[in-house]
Amino acid sequence: MDSLLTEIDHIAIAVNDLDAAIAWYENVFGATVEHREVVDSDGVAEALLRVADSYVQLLTPTRDDSPVAKYLANKGEGLHHVGYRVSDCAVALEAVKAAGGRVIDEAPRPGSRGTTVAFVHPKTSFGTLIELVQDNGPAH
Ligand code: CO
Repeated sequence: MDSLLTEIDHIAIAVNDLDAAIAWYENVFGATVEHREVVDSDGVAEALLRVADSYVQLLTPTRDDSPVAKYLANKGEGLHHVGYRVSDCAVALEAVKAAGGRVIDEAPRPGSRGTTVAFVHPKTSFGTLIELVQDNGPAH
């Protein structure tokens, strides 16, 4: 069968200072921010910098009980998750469950940029937190 993963949507990097991280990517690589968003439900602020048809997503917590705040406290700054683009988030999530994978989101939910997303627990995906990203519009 064809792969359910159609593209790397984004690589997410947890940082303490979002503006400092953006400035570094801009100054060192000439990268530009294409999208910024605060996702209140997740307690994060993010900036997306385009790399070809994918993004680097810089991620910082907006409150102390955010999962990203806990991640930074425990592990420090660095690679947080990989977002794989899929054409149908529900189908990909069911495939993970059918294979015995542990999921964080039992059902797809709204993500940033109008996407539909679901997270897969790193425990059953070889230590990598995975986000399944269904792109719902022309702007992603
Ligand atoms: Co993400």
